[in-house]
Amino acid sequence: MIVITTPTGKIGAQVLRELLAKDISPLRVLVRDARKLSEAVRARVETVEGDLHQPASLSKAFGGASTLFWCQPDCPDAPDYVGAYEALATTARDAIRASGVSRVVAISAAGSPGNRPAGPITALHRMEAALRESGAACRFLRGGSFYENLLWQWESILHEGVFVYSMPGDTPTPQVATKDIAAVAARWLADADWVGSEAVSLLGPRDLSFNAVATELTQALGRPVRYEAMSPHSYRDILMSMGQSEDAAQGLVDMFEYLAVAYHPDERDDRALTPTTLAQWIQSAARSA
Ligand SMILES: NC(=O)c1ccc[n+]([C@@H]2O[C@H](COP(=O)([O-])OP(=O)(O)OC[C@H]3O[C@@H](n4cnc5c(N)ncnc54)[C@H](OP(=O)(O)O)[C@@H]3O)[C@@H](O)[C@H]2O)c1
Repeated sequence: MIVITTPTGKIGAQVLRELLAKDISPLRVLVRDARKLSEAVRARVETVEGDLHQPASLSKAFGGASTLFWCQPDCPDAPDYVGAYEALATTARDAIRASGVSRVVAISAAGSPGNRPAGPITALHRMEAALRESGAACRFLRGGSFYENLLWQWESILHEGVFVYSMPGDTPTPQVATKDIAAVAARWLADADWVGSEAVSLLGPRDLSFNAVATELTQALGRPVRYEAMSPHSYRDILMSMGQSEDAAQGLVDMFEYLAVAYHPDERDDRALTPTTLAQWIQSAARSA
């Protein structure tokens, strides 16, 4: 039995689709509202309705399962951002231990910030540490920034021709399509023949600076798009005006600062290369929009 969390999320939905396409069974999903899944999907999977933060939901979902796809929802309104990730990971660790799940494939993030604060990267690496204590073998899929993050600024990209973050435009960092992460996750989930725990970097075809992203957007959309680097202070204020907690907003600013000044490119072995180019992703995003 393979359990899939966040089956309505960007990665989780694609993981589920991949496993169904490969006729892998049995599958169980943990979902807040099963009506969000199509009838066709519900007919082929066992559904547990519940909340990831509720230990009872996790024990119901994990019971009798061998393998788990674990993806933590982001928590941009948490007063203690990293603490919230850690708390949920600790709940998962205990439920994995109690249920005897033996393999976990978890969504994490690329980078090695060590003790340097790096917001979501720090949070996900703390999650890794907690899951390593679960007793299960783990694969931590350390993706670069998702191409899909551009969708948060899609209106501005299309209508104003600009997108913003708080890091210099000329620093290349790894960026990746979530469908490529999902494809790798599905392969690990379907394979019952691995042990031990390790991180797997998933870094896209090449590192991209935000200026390079702007060039790709300009070419693919056929209209000028530029990247604007905001000051950390202004960027944090924008995030907070959109409802993020001060701690979560500061975390993103910290992450960009880490990526700008201390990030060392992760090693790109064969497993780290993912196929979808940004240009391909933009074409398909533009078609869907
Ligand atoms: N953005 C990046 O560049 C990046 C890079 C590396 C790693 N990550 C990590 O990727 C993860 C997010 O993955 P994603 O983008 O695929 O997720 P997503 O699209 O944001 O989806 C969130 C999912 O979590 C579910 N969910 C939220 N709260 C829940 C709860 N209390 N109980 C049960 N389910 C709940 C949602 O279900 P509903 O349909 O019920 O709302 C939805 O399925 C985060 O951990 C993030 O840090 C992000």
